[in-house]
Amino acid sequence: MPYRITILCDNTVGALSGTIGEHGFAALAEWDGGSILFDTGQGEALLHNALRRNRDLHRVGHVTLSHGHYDHTGGLLPLLRNCGGKEIFAHPAVFSRRYRVKDTGESTSIGIPYREEFLRGLGGRFSLSDRFREIAKGIFMTGEVPRKNPFEVGDAGQFCDDAGSMPDRVRDDQSLVIVSERGLVLLLGCCHAGVINSIDYAMEKTGVENVYAVIGGTHLGFSDPNRLDETVRALRGYRIKKICPGHCTGFAASARLFREFPGQFHPAHVGFTIEI
Ligand SMILES: [Fe+2]
Ligand SMILES: [Fe+2]
Repeated sequence: MPYRITILCDNTVGALSGTIGEHGFAALAEWDGGSILFDTGQGEALLHNALRRNRDLHRVGHVTLSHGHYDHTGGLLPLLRNCGGKEIFAHPAVFSRRYRVKDTGESTSIGIPYREEFLRGLGGRFSLSDRFREIAKGIFMTGEVPRKNPFEVGDAGQFCDDAGSMPDRVRDDQSLVIVSERGLVLLLGCCHAGVINSIDYAMEKTGVENVYAVIGGTHLGFSDPNRLDETVRALRGYRIKKICPGHCTGFAASARLFREFPGQFHPAHVGFTIEI
């Protein structure tokens, strides 16, 4: 079954697309007879960009959330208000409080900006699970991803409290996995669990060893150089056909990936569409 994936929110936009960028991520996966929205961005760009890319979000029945950060969940409000009720798949910890705390002690709330009851009132029907599960035929959410690689350590600036005393490993982080005829396609939110951890877990749970595409945020922009080196080394082993980083990958890590994988690389900016 062919799939079409369109990036609707990202930090950068494609040329002449008429779209707007914001720090965040959202992608729409469509196939004959269905569609799934993966993440929703911060909330300013989603509806505008969907309109400009001629994608009708009223027809989307399922929304999946990679994790509970504001730049992936903020678009739930405009989506539910304007495009009707949706079934929303996420991890039970998606409503946790979370903060970025700087060395100066300055803290910023970066969790989901809405309460569950409020979103339910707008027609959001939540299905919460930390398990690997199939949400449409051949399409899976990873659930909580085992953190096995020693080099994929978390972002040291994220905490569960605004005093910065309880590190947040964002255990709700998960990816969407499509089992296509060409191989696995992974959609990543921030991928706080680690790209390599996530790919390995998707392969293990599906039993499919061929990875066709990895698309979305990698958090490599917030990582130390060793993690980037080790990630590049590990990525070479999978022979992935399409490496499409975006969002929290950042400029420097994206440039490195472009240099390392010139034939496979394409930035996952707003408007980027891939058919599989
Ligand atoms: Fe993010
Ligand atoms: Fe995040």
